[in-house]
Amino acid sequence: MTNLSSLVDLKNGTISREIFVNDEIFKQELGQIFSRAWLFIGHEDLVPNPDDYFVSRMGTDSVILTRDRQNKINVLLNSCMHRGMKVCRYDQGNTRAFTCPYHGWSYSTDGRLVEVPGELVGVPGFGPYYHEKLDKKNWGLIYCPKVVNYKGTIWATWDANAPDFLDYLGDMKVYLDAALDHRDGSPGGSEMIGGVQKWRVKCNWKFAPENFIGDMYHDISHRSVDLVGIGPSGGKGRRDKTIGRTTVSFDDLGHGIIGTLPYREEFPYQETFKNHPEIEDYLKEVYDRRLKNLGDRLRVNTSVGTIFPNMSFHGRQPRTIAVFHPISPTEMEMWRIFLVDRDSPQALKDAARHYYMRYSGPGGMTESDDLENWQYATEASAGHVARRYHYNYQMGMGYAEPVPELRGAWNNGEYSEGNARAYYKRYLEFMEGRDWDGLMAASRAHGEARSDA
Ligand code: FES
Ligand SMILES: [Fe+2]
Repeated sequence: MTNLSSLVDLKNGTISREIFVNDEIFKQELGQIFSRAWLFIGHEDLVPNPDDYFVSRMGTDSVILTRDRQNKINVLLNSCMHRGMKVCRYDQGNTRAFTCPYHGWSYSTDGRLVEVPGELVGVPGFGPYYHEKLDKKNWGLIYCPKVVNYKGTIWATWDANAPDFLDYLGDMKVYLDAALDHRDGSPGGSEMIGGVQKWRVKCNWKFAPENFIGDMYHDISHRSVDLVGIGPSGGKGRRDKTIGRTTVSFDDLGHGIIGTLPYREEFPYQETFKNHPEIEDYLKEVYDRRLKNLGDRLRVNTSVGTIFPNMSFHGRQPRTIAVFHPISPTEMEMWRIFLVDRDSPQALKDAARHYYMRYSGPGGMTESDDLENWQYATEASAGHVARRYHYNYQMGMGYAEPVPELRGAWNNGEYSEGNARAYYKRYLEFMEGRDWDGLMAASRAHGEARSDA
């Protein structure tokens, strides 16, 4: 295992290019991070009916997200236990069993028939060739021991000892909620529109979550789009203005956002689609409901955030979830799904869909700016001489202030690399091979401190 402490030098705020280009380090990431952390798998709308499945990824592994006939959601490794063939070669569909095309072993997801997800139920020649001696119970598909559906988003981990998802999330939950909850403040209720956009980028996978965790500084990249104005309000800029924007990091957990500190609703703020009077009226009504539903409870807004290690989300406009699958040190596969409130009028769904396409995805005017930066940065960092030098993450060091309302949260100010430093602090903790007791100790200590308060 490579010792990364000199490569990720958080005391000086510098990080070696090696962690973005090196094969050995990439393998270590798969073992220490992607085999243990909670990972975003998909949205429940991808598997709305019993026997539906959707093929996703966890690190470099192909996995199948399924909904069984008892409505339980499972995540199975997409590799036959006999010789490893992919048991499912489609992107999504509906089936009662996965039958391997190579020799015909079949695996069931029907919880009435089998005790564990993906149990081996059919083996050609079980009597004549195996003499009924194959222990089928032990040769089912590998499945994730922990899977949760959080407000429609599906998360899983390979590690049975991982903490509960909500502990892993910590108080970052309030920011994720702000993205997933109904605009009227009631919990959940978002639906996916369109399919999953998937595309490959020749960049290290960490560029994306690092960018979305709090990089306000790269606005210059989007200057052309800002000048043209592609926002839903019809004015200048890419999106609606976010009020009182800052960056907040959860240093013990590696998550962070660009958004607001917890606040009370002191000023009217609502999303706008100024070119669409019908939508404007609907959003005003939603805003009134929000004031009523949330009362004087504290609230937050999330512009964009990252949940360690490879999921990011935009909480307002556009409202979308992105995931960055590692392919190699210098290539990732990026996915995006887009959300709207399930009960919103069709006109809003259509306008949002058009806006999302203008903004995000491989053809999105803003996304393509970012992709270009990450791709050329990766390429230029892989050079023999270039690799010797560290990147600079020193912006705003020593200027963070605690956020009293949120456990373990730091306000780094609008322009700072504090969130990126929090991300790589967590990265280092995972890469060092700390166990979960060690990984969660600081966060638990914060929890106790607050409950004593
Ligand atoms: S590889 Fe699947 S049955 Fe042989
Ligand atoms: Fe960007």
